[in-house]
Amino acid sequence: MQGRTLEFMKLLRILAVFSLFVTVQAQMKIPPETVQQWASVFSVQLRELTTKYSGSLLLQKKLKDVESIIKIVELDGDSLVKDYSDDIESMLGSKMKSVKRLAESAEDADLYHDFNATLQFDYYNSMLINTLDEDGNYVALGGEFPLEENEHFNNMPVNTQQSNIQIPTNVYNKDPNILNAIYNSEALNDVFISNFQKDPTLTWQYFGSSTGFFRIYPGIKWTPDSNGVAAFDCRNRNWYIQAATSPKDIIIMVDISGSMKGLKMTIAKHTINTILDTLGENDFVNVIAYTDYVRYVEPCFRGTLVQADLDNREHFKVLVEDLHVKGEAKIKEAMKESFRILNEARANGQGSMCNQAIMLITDGAMEDFESVFEEFNWPERRVRVFTYLIGREMTFAQNTKWIACNNKGYYTHISTLADVQENVMEYLHVLSRPMVINHDHDIIWTEAYMDTVLPNTKELFATKAQSLLLMTSVAMPVFSKKKETLSHGILLGVVGSDIPLMEVMKLAPRYMLGAHGYAFLITNNGYILAHPDLRPLYKEGKKLKMKPNYNSVDLSEVEWEDTEELLRTAMVRGETGSRSLSIRASVDKGKRPLYLVNEYFYTNIDDTPFSFGMVLTKGQGKLMFVGNVSVEEGLHDLTSPDLSIASEWTYCETDIDPAHRKFTQLQAAIRYLLGKEPDLECDELLLQQTLFDAVVTAPLEAYWNALMLNDRVEPGVETAFLGTRAGLMRIMRYAGVETRVAKNFLTPSDKLNLFTIDHFPLWYRLAVENTPGNFYYYPINDKGVKYSIATTAVTVSSEGKTAVAGAIGVQMSLDFLEKRFWAIAKQPSDTDCSNIDGVCPLSCESSDLNCFLVDNNGFTLLSKERNDVGRFFGEVDGSVMASLIKMGMFKKVSLFDYQAMCKNSHHHASSARPLLSPFYSIMALTRWFFSNALM
Ligand SMILES: *[C@@H]1O[C@H](CO)[C@@H](O)[C@H](O)[C@H]1NC(C)=O
Ligand SMILES: *[C@@H]1O[C@H](CO)[C@@H](O)[C@H](O)[C@H]1NC(C)=O
Repeated sequence: MQGRTLEFMKLLRILAVFSLFVTVQAQMKIPPETVQQWASVFSVQLRELTTKYSGSLLLQKKLKDVESIIKIVELDGDSLVKDYSDDIESMLGSKMKSVKRLAESAEDADLYHDFNATLQFDYYNSMLINTLDEDGNYVALGGEFPLEENEHFNNMPVNTQQSNIQIPTNVYNKDPNILNAIYNSEALNDVFISNFQKDPTLTWQYFGSSTGFFRIYPGIKWTPDSNGVAAFDCRNRNWYIQAATSPKDIIIMVDISGSMKGLKMTIAKHTINTILDTLGENDFVNVIAYTDYVRYVEPCFRGTLVQADLDNREHFKVLVEDLHVKGEAKIKEAMKESFRILNEARANGQGSMCNQAIMLITDGAMEDFESVFEEFNWPERRVRVFTYLIGREMTFAQNTKWIACNNKGYYTHISTLADVQENVMEYLHVLSRPMVINHDHDIIWTEAYMDTVLPNTKELFATKAQSLLLMTSVAMPVFSKKKETLSHGILLGVVGSDIPLMEVMKLAPRYMLGAHGYAFLITNNGYILAHPDLRPLYKEGKKLKMKPNYNSVDLSEVEWEDTEELLRTAMVRGETGSRSLSIRASVDKGKRPLYLVNEYFYTNIDDTPFSFGMVLTKGQGKLMFVGNVSVEEGLHDLTSPDLSIASEWTYCETDIDPAHRKFTQLQAAIRYLLGKEPDLECDELLLQQTLFDAVVTAPLEAYWNALMLNDRVEPGVETAFLGTRAGLMRIMRYAGVETRVAKNFLTPSDKLNLFTIDHFPLWYRLAVENTPGNFYYYPINDKGVKYSIATTAVTVSSEGKTAVAGAIGVQMSLDFLEKRFWAIAKQPSDTDCSNIDGVCPLSCESSDLNCFLVDNNGFTLLSKERNDVGRFFGEVDGSVMASLIKMGMFKKVSLFDYQAMCKNSHHHASSARPLLSPFYSIMALTRWFFSNALM
């Protein structure tokens, strides 16, 4: 009957003010007025309680009192983005200068050194340092090497006076070539140290030698991997390959005929993997296996080159593992196919548009092939052919050598597994030769990557914002300048330095960006370097792992509302500009949608392939109020014990002078304000605002304490809290830690609810999107510990503008809410039941009745089943949810998560990108979201 629906709607309109829904499900008739009455009584009670225990009215009043002395400014995104990008530019510029100094020094050292075949020379081997033999003497190359923990290097023990040397286990460390090269690179030590003095924000600096050793500053102790070997080979690293070679198209051709069985096939597979490891994002690849027929190891990539990103490389490795030998080798067709792919790519302007090569891996048995080269590659010899002769027999050495020599390639013989690495590396020399001869000293920047080589990174995964664990490296090739080598060009190695993206992104301070604003950085191919929505890790059991394609996430996969890719296109082109987009964002791990109008401001970073973007939310995000109090007055309140400031933000830069590193942000700020540390570099505007907020919010401390001392806090009301845009928080624990249910709430590990480097607290973000003064209620399920939170925004107004000043709230146990709710949700026992069939009087506690309290986003706040609390109501009772949606009380919102992974899929051919399409979409997961239609 229509009247009833109408009634129900009215009820919900009333309740919407309090952001609460009561859903009653029962077979029998329930008078809507009854539910309405229960709900409104409960709402009023709840509102009174949360207002009282949070102190929200007091804070709002205190803010009203200062309205005459504050200013509200509208942020100018265009000029901010310019300022921040200038800062980033000069920061990255100083890193480039450091790397250039390293390259010059390495080239000079080589120029003035004559090779000495009998050179005796001791150096510090990072695997052996501080190691004693059984007689108590230091082992060779393992002398005393003092190490000291250093905050600047993730608290690792390091030696900032000296670099040291890592050598992969398979490289012979007494080889005269290596000894001479290490001896030369000693000259870098002084440059490392002076670079670090000139720019204390520098992190690791290093030199990767083409002979295989790796010199790293500051010196560290290198721990072998679980197999007891140092597998790390700097020549396989992205920065090395990218700096040492130009982009390349590679076809790997592997012989899988019967003669390749056993050890030969094992060596061949290892060779393929090693070749794949030398490829990077700028390279293109395919793998062909041949016997008496030709077979693509990945049939889906048939006939094309695919980008050699991590994802595709790993995919090839899995497939290569499954290759089996059979039949008789017929090389001709496979060779034709390889030339065809490469020629087509070149003709169509696809692939790397630079070097092209075929890697032939065989034991040599082959029929006539000369005609293929005649047809496809001669006389220009545009495609180089490298041959790898596998096995001990040399019978076919002549023809494999002939192929390489007649196609500008390189012939190598690989007879054992241990030979693979060094022999594969040889081809890089050949491909870097054009660069060497032209002396292209191009500085390169790598894609974002996560460093898994250095120890300690695992722990960092758990404690820092995911997207900001990544880093980029800046690197530069080092060439021999000796006269006699100039003509054929010798690559000595690559120098480089790591730059944590966190340090870059810190230059756009969080408080300026506001509750929903953020900054991001992309490369010129659209890949993300830093973005708060980039999630490079996933959980497997208890372990956090990197997603295979974590560093090739395209901007349009994250900014998916940019459907026309206008933002992406402009940024990839390095343009400066702005653009406004209506977007659906989400908070609380993607559970709660927000409708925002975001203004994007972007500009390129000169001398780098990067583009910087910044987002301000229209409305509250762009309005910031500025207060002003005297330092004396502010300092008094800043030191009160319930107060904290965002530990991950930069109020003062404590990482420049080592003496400052021991200070917390609050300690540093206070010492600076007291004049005790005039050398500290502090953010004046932020400090001024922090002082002001400390003063305005000070009365809350007194208010909360008074409630507590007068014993007027009911059990179950556990914590009152507030936060301001300056990252200032005050926390009152009404309940002692023993009795508190929400023990983790607002502790340092509760990142979701704190001001961190990449987000505002959840309760802050939810409060600012709702009507100030109205509380927003929501359940929390923290690993099975459930509780609820009420939060509201407070504002200041001036000259007709209103800005959000902060958020305030209270956290309560479920017991507390339930007790209140069940007490209200029942009819008195003297209810007249004469003309009612079914249960009477009605009570939510009755087993015939299901009552739910559902929050604005459709999550269950209260239910008789504790299990339901915190769950999406659609999961608890899909049919009721469906009818609520039908009635228009909730609306379905679709958000897309392009970073979701299908973990079980064995074949992820769908993730293979077709050539030259930098953006691809795997829509692996669509979630359903619901929001309150009445908001
Ligand atoms: C080569 O090195 C050895 C040992 O370090 C040294 O004795 C010798 O003088 C060096 N030769 C030249 C030509 O410098
Ligand atoms: C803050 O107020 C003081 C006087 O109380 C004044 O000297 C100072 O310039 C003001 N600062 C700002 C940024 O308005």
